Amino acid sequence: FHVDWDVACAEKAGYEHFMMKEMCEEPKVVRDTINPRIEGFGVNLGNTGITAEALKDIDKINIVACGTASHAGIVGKYIIEKLARIPVEVDVASEFRYREPIISRRNLVIIISQSGETIDTLFALREAKKRGARTLAVVNVVGSSIAREADDVLYTWAGPEIAVASTKAYNTQLAAMYLIALDLACKKGSIDSETAKGIIDSLKAAPDAIEEVLGNCEAIQKFASQHYNAKSIFFIGRGLDYALSMEGSLKLKEISYIHSEAYAGGELKHGTIALIEKGTLVVCSMTQKGLLEKMISNIKEVKARGAVVMAITQQSNEEVWKAADIVIEIPDIDSIIAPIVAITPMQLFAYYMALQKGCDVDKPRNLAKSVTVE
Ligand code: G6P
Repeated sequence: FHVDWDVACAEKAGYEHFMMKEMCEEPKVVRDTINPRIEGFGVNLGNTGITAEALKDIDKINIVACGTASHAGIVGKYIIEKLARIPVEVDVASEFRYREPIISRRNLVIIISQSGETIDTLFALREAKKRGARTLAVVNVVGSSIAREADDVLYTWAGPEIAVASTKAYNTQLAAMYLIALDLACKKGSIDSETAKGIIDSLKAAPDAIEEVLGNCEAIQKFASQHYNAKSIFFIGRGLDYALSMEGSLKLKEISYIHSEAYAGGELKHGTIALIEKGTLVVCSMTQKGLLEKMISNIKEVKARGAVVMAITQQSNEEVWKAADIVIEIPDIDSIIAPIVAITPMQLFAYYMALQKGCDVDKPRNLAKSVTVE
């Protein structure tokens, strides 16, 4: 009698790859990150939250991180500025630490890191502290260096992430960004309780929406099986969709080794459109209701030059179907909350493209899960 298994296999709980297992955990970990911090119609970040009094001394927020975490930071910028009306600057840690940033005790520096051990991010945190800033770490690994050294820590409860390409941790980092933005906005009085309640309700609905996306992955899988030979893929979007496109593009590069870039929809005409030719793949994220018409125009521009377009939207009206080659529908959800749901089809897309190409999905070449040396 012979049982063929190893520890890694057991930990995969029947999934072929850690990445798929971790994507399937997204609804649960987003719930775990949000639920304990929601109280009635507001959020309660406990000791982590900045007091309304202390907030009066904060003129600016800086978000500093690397890789996927930095993309969560860009979404964070959009939502903190929109809800709390506090200016936010985002830096990748390796730039921040060497550029003599203008930071004082009137800055709140938010450091995002899944591992809490990324060396550039850790040194950026030290740089911010040296300059007198108050620091808040959004970290997944309890007791990690960044968690220990920051003034405050807001943990993302994503659990262990094994696949090198980050998936569920990103969703929980976005959840943390919503919680921080709501906390700041309520304390500052920049949104009324009705608006806060509406956003919190949408946020609470996000895990179910992610679940639905995960249950409908066949269309993405089929599209990937038809296009995995693509040489170059462009991700376009506006506003929060642009921030999201950066992460979608990174995921694809990391595990499928296909060249890819993210562009703001409105910026296409200033250069990138020169690269669109017959058969070029364009992934078009269009979850921002106020920008839908603009994105439809962008699709028409690239289609006119021969592009094949996959659109991701929660508002697939007839016009979107007419414009794009394939439409991936996500459940109807507030534009501001949409990124935490709309990233999942992009992660699935990267996964299936890499799988079709025969790549090692969980351990892509040249990459490490946590970069602890410079
Ligand atoms: C490495 C990983 C990325 C990750 C980045 C930041 O480069 O390959 O997936 O986004 O580090 O890691 P952190 O643990 O700080 O979030």
